[in-house]
Amino acid sequence: MICNEFNLESETTVLASDFHVGNKNTDMVALKKMVSDVRKNGYNLIVLGDLCECISSRDKRFDMGTVAPEFLGDNMIGRQYKSVEKLLKPIADQILMIHSGNHDQSVTKYCHIDMVKDLCENLETTYSEYTALSRLSYCKRGKKFSYNLYSTHGHAAGRLRGGKVNSLEGLASHIDFDIAAAGHSHDLFYTSQQRMFQTKFGHLGLKTQYFCNTGSFLKGIVEGSGVSYPEQAGYRPLKIGYLKVKLNPREYGVSVEEVIM
Ligand SMILES: [Fe+2]
Ligand SMILES: [Fe+2]
Repeated sequence: MICNEFNLESETTVLASDFHVGNKNTDMVALKKMVSDVRKNGYNLIVLGDLCECISSRDKRFDMGTVAPEFLGDNMIGRQYKSVEKLLKPIADQILMIHSGNHDQSVTKYCHIDMVKDLCENLETTYSEYTALSRLSYCKRGKKFSYNLYSTHGHAAGRLRGGKVNSLEGLASHIDFDIAAAGHSHDLFYTSQQRMFQTKFGHLGLKTQYFCNTGSFLKGIVEGSGVSYPEQAGYRPLKIGYLKVKLNPREYGVSVEEVIM
């Protein structure tokens, strides 16, 4: 668990995850468009893990048919991370933090090399391991507004959405946040709920709490691309894309937008 404080220059933060660079079904065109959206609009970016596929030939999950041809050969995983570094380099100063996912962690576990930590050092950005609590502060007309973000690579998966929604919304029982964000399940959606509180003037206050599932850039089911894991497991095809979280100081609220590619 990492705790961060960020003073933001842009009120919009892109939440993107599960690039799985190295898999031949990763949508590199969509990934480059997301980076371009961040760069052109000056947005902040948070990456929620599974940056690279990280499945070596010694791994029982290895399937030659899923490897993008350009990564076959020596130093396969090293070249996957170099590719992500090259992709993110132009927006390095807009990246708030990068999380590690379970695919990234498999390299750490078996090879004692933390590739995401090295990547963050190269990009001079914050490495937030698997999970973080972050205070996002934004100044508008001299007034400072702060929001609490809980972000994690995540742990919920499965064929249906219900379990993922329950998992995200259940976080509110023991974590104090305005926005919770998780990757891992590759599903792209958000939900929200109202929370009651008593204002400092003694009246009823309501605030909206957001639960964000940040999607993926890995296409699960592709025509003519061999037999994929999601296909074998009976998963639904999922949207490719990311979420944009906009802090809205005028109403002291937050808005979330799905970007489907
Ligand atoms: Fe993933
Ligand atoms: Fe994952």
